[in-house]
Amino acid sequence: MAVQSIQLDTLPASPEQARLWCAQLEDGEILYFPQTPAPIPAEDLDFLLNQRQSGASIHKNIAYKPDRDRLSGWDSQTMNDAEVNRLRGIMQRYSGSVTAFLTGFLAPYQGRWRRDYASYRPMEEQGRDLPLRRRNDLLHTDAFPTRPTRGARILRFFHNIHPTRTRDWVVGEPFRRVVKEFAPRQLSLPHSQSSAGRAAVRLARATGLASLVPRWKRTPYDEFMMQLHNAMKEDAAFQSTCAKVFVQFAPGSSWMVYTETVPHAVLSGQYALEQTFLVDPAAMVTPDSAPVKVLEKLVGANLT
Ligand SMILES: [Fe+2]
Repeated sequence: MAVQSIQLDTLPASPEQARLWCAQLEDGEILYFPQTPAPIPAEDLDFLLNQRQSGASIHKNIAYKPDRDRLSGWDSQTMNDAEVNRLRGIMQRYSGSVTAFLTGFLAPYQGRWRRDYASYRPMEEQGRDLPLRRRNDLLHTDAFPTRPTRGARILRFFHNIHPTRTRDWVVGEPFRRVVKEFAPRQLSLPHSQSSAGRAAVRLARATGLASLVPRWKRTPYDEFMMQLHNAMKEDAAFQSTCAKVFVQFAPGSSWMVYTETVPHAVLSGQYALEQTFLVDPAAMVTPDSAPVKVLEKLVGANLT
């Protein structure tokens, strides 16, 4: 686990350097920009910093779906239509500028990704009162309960827009190490396509997720990744004894990481933007590092 700091005056990088950065991401490292490469206009920043979630919206991220230009999670008690439209425009610009930057910066991927949601997280992360499986302050790898990725990788690009405070994370050891600890001990890692399917259905029923996700939409890979997310959060011994590092992201900085493979927890911080990309695992510069490949090698079966 390491943080690679990148200064903007070193960009654009050589093709060799770009491949190295991709390889570092795929190896579980965080690429950190002390100064964000996707800056936000001052008037947009002011608007974002003045947002307050209240009532039923207090625990929600504001989410923006780029392909539909749709905003959700905004606070209907405090925002009027004009403000909602303004916020949608800000998120649209943010999503577009991050995508434009990464299209060049991650050139080795050749745009082999789907742009997923962008989000704005205006709430204070410290002391949030959330159910265990939804807590962000426990180390976890990301998995989407209702939107299986079917093997695609979850790359997230963040921006701490708080004017003065750091955003504080804890980061654990990458997938290839933690998976060895969790797979045999706590998870019903599938042994074949058919038994995996049966295990997936049993698990979905046991966790109450069967009603949320049509069975055919989730691959054995998705089932495993969801189980891994839950098992990490529920394992108090892992939380307290696993190897981890404390990382602070400065005001105005950005960072990106494959969050489905790097265990992370958010301890404190307020006002962050984020854009998610679902990257084709076949586009990796080190294809064997993709979690679907690691798991398939472990069980000797196709998981998607
Ligand atoms: Fe997460």
